[in-house]
Amino acid sequence: MTKEFTRQSGRKPDEIRPISAKVGIIPNADGSAMFQSGKTIAIAAVYGPKEHHPRNQRNPARGTLRCTYNMMSFSVTDRIRPGPNRRSTEISKIIEWALEPIVMLDKYPGLVVDVHIQMTQADAGTRCAGINAAAMALAHAGIPMKDLVSSIAAGKLDKTIVLDLDKYEDSEFEEGEGSTDIPITFTSDGKLTHIQVDGHITTEQLKQAMKMAREASKKIYEVQKQALKDSLGGGK
Ligand code: CDP
Repeated sequence: MTKEFTRQSGRKPDEIRPISAKVGIIPNADGSAMFQSGKTIAIAAVYGPKEHHPRNQRNPARGTLRCTYNMMSFSVTDRIRPGPNRRSTEISKIIEWALEPIVMLDKYPGLVVDVHIQMTQADAGTRCAGINAAAMALAHAGIPMKDLVSSIAAGKLDKTIVLDLDKYEDSEFEEGEGSTDIPITFTSDGKLTHIQVDGHITTEQLKQAMKMAREASKKIYEVQKQALKDSLGGGK
């Protein structure tokens, strides 16, 4: 008899952590937002479009989206050393790539839009929470966008495809067959803007992971949309 796989949190394989979002949390910024998924909390602040410095990095044909991801030193139990590192530089680039397809940068030739993403708490899934917060902050700043994006990680625990691994799950299955992590970002109509596959997965399992993540992204989109409406005082 095969034993049914159970998650330590009691969540079903396709069950994401409780999510919440708020827009307009940093009055000084042109746009800002918070996205929380379980114990992972991202805040994003947008400044711009503004003059692009250093000048030699200007693109005269279109605007530049410049994302900076950072985990605050107190965001995990082991203090994080302040300042950029290889991981934060890589995640900053990935967030840019996930957002670029939806931001109409052709409207701002030579200018830059700065998006600062700070993790105040990190319990895995920070790049996805960061992307979700950043997309809302860009919309709040009034930057022309084709759509919003919603991001969620799928993963493989043992041989089971699950959504939204927390740090316990991420670490527990680090060794051996189960260490697969697949952050994915979708537009509201289900088009991909970003996918990473870290680990081993079969084509069939990847299809299943994409399907589960696409369904979950719809729930995230609804929460983001409602938070943006609430910021306008529009309610429902
Ligand atoms: O956060 P995300 O899943 O996008 O990226 P990761 O590099 O797979 O990191 C997973 C988790 O490891 C983070 O969310 C943190 O909870 C934790 N972490 C940490 O404790 N210390 C670090 N220097 C980096 C990550």
